[in-house]
Amino acid sequence: MTLDQLIPSLRTSLRAKLAPGVWPAGTALDSDGDLVIAGARMTEVAARFGTPTYVLDEAAFRRQCRQYAATLPGVEICYAGKALLTRAVARWVAEEGLSLDVCSAGELAVARSVGFPAGRIVLHGNAKTPEDLKAALRYPVGRIVIDSFDEIDQLGMLAHDQQVLIRVTPGVDGHTHRAISTGVEDQKFGFSLASGAAAEAVRRVSAQPGLRLVGMHCHIGSQLTRIGMIEEAARRMIGLLALVRDRYGVRLPQLNLGGGHAVRYLPGDDEFDLAGYAARLSGALAYECGRHRLPVPRLAIEPGRALIARAGITLYRVVVVKDVPGVRTFVAVDGGMSDNPRPALYGARYTVALIGRPCSAATRTVTVVGRHCEAGDILAQDVPLPRDVHAGDLLAVACTGAYHQSLASTYNMVGRPPLVAVADGDARLLVRRETEEDLLARDTGM
Ligand code: LLP
Repeated sequence: MTLDQLIPSLRTSLRAKLAPGVWPAGTALDSDGDLVIAGARMTEVAARFGTPTYVLDEAAFRRQCRQYAATLPGVEICYAGKALLTRAVARWVAEEGLSLDVCSAGELAVARSVGFPAGRIVLHGNAKTPEDLKAALRYPVGRIVIDSFDEIDQLGMLAHDQQVLIRVTPGVDGHTHRAISTGVEDQKFGFSLASGAAAEAVRRVSAQPGLRLVGMHCHIGSQLTRIGMIEEAARRMIGLLALVRDRYGVRLPQLNLGGGHAVRYLPGDDEFDLAGYAARLSGALAYECGRHRLPVPRLAIEPGRALIARAGITLYRVVVVKDVPGVRTFVAVDGGMSDNPRPALYGARYTVALIGRPCSAATRTVTVVGRHCEAGDILAQDVPLPRDVHAGDLLAVACTGAYHQSLASTYNMVGRPPLVAVADGDARLLVRRETEEDLLARDTGM
């Protein structure tokens, strides 16, 4: 008999606590070891919707939208839909008064299906197809961010009075993973500031009667923790606004500084200092604009991850526990790189908790892996889990609201998980699980 069986009150004190700062605020482990998010029990969610399942705390997302709006008054907050976009999410974004960044006709279709206010939609993309551009002009979206000289001509031929911004590569290194670093010169995105391409783009856009240039855009990368790099990009962008005023007499009222604000995946990760960012940015903009005798432009930002990542978790069921003596213990679950390719793509790390049963066992270091046919199908490397973790256990992975559902694939013909929203103790299905029928439906068999 273990100590906590002899003294039941010890169970609570011995029970693993949730790691701070990575789960939706207010998330708790109850006395049965169940994870409770927004009043909903995750064992019940798993029983009702199966596993793996993405779970989204609606209130946590809305709170974060409000936090951004309150900390950055007067700044247009444009939620980056690539992080996670469903019809419900688009509706929440609209209701919270935010704008929406889309980057394909598909994302635009989601926005359109809920009547998202057109003027608050911004279209992005380094290679927008004719279908993307036509869909945007048809809606019509408020602004299109032009990314190349080809696009100036292509859009110029189609548009009549379309507001546009020019995407600039400011030559600032965001110090993030190479695959999501977009501010440096060797880059498929935007017009280089240093080479003069950005200024040349202003000249060419201004020559297009169907395009109305309203501002500049830059986005130096994702999962950025160094505010100084965003500040430096902002300074350079103000310098560019001054240059195009001086060279072409063009005055641009808008500046969009993109997204990229980091979130915590592990309790020890650096957190993005939003208040510090707001203060430093407004100081830098006021100073640079004063220096160049420019009015401070209307500022927009495009956070995706920072608004939705922490509102989401993923539930998995343990299928197999395999000890490789002297090497490591693998805890294999019923999902994997098809529902979360981020460890394979960016070396991402995660916080994992065993939930759904009281557990006071000491922990040991294990590696949580998926069910796919690759050794690199790892969900969480070297994480502490109770020694007695076994097949049938339920695991929750924190901070999976951004770039999980939206990056998911059907690798190995595994259907994509459902997305379930929790609010006020209830759970409701936003996107259902992909079935074998869904997968077969696209295959003509010919
Ligand atoms: N604006 C633009 C133009 C972007 O390209 C992006 C992200 C954002 C805003 C939003 O960035 P966020 O605030 O979410 O960092 N799949 C990667 C992230 C790719 C980011 C692509 N662009 C990941 O899972 O880490």
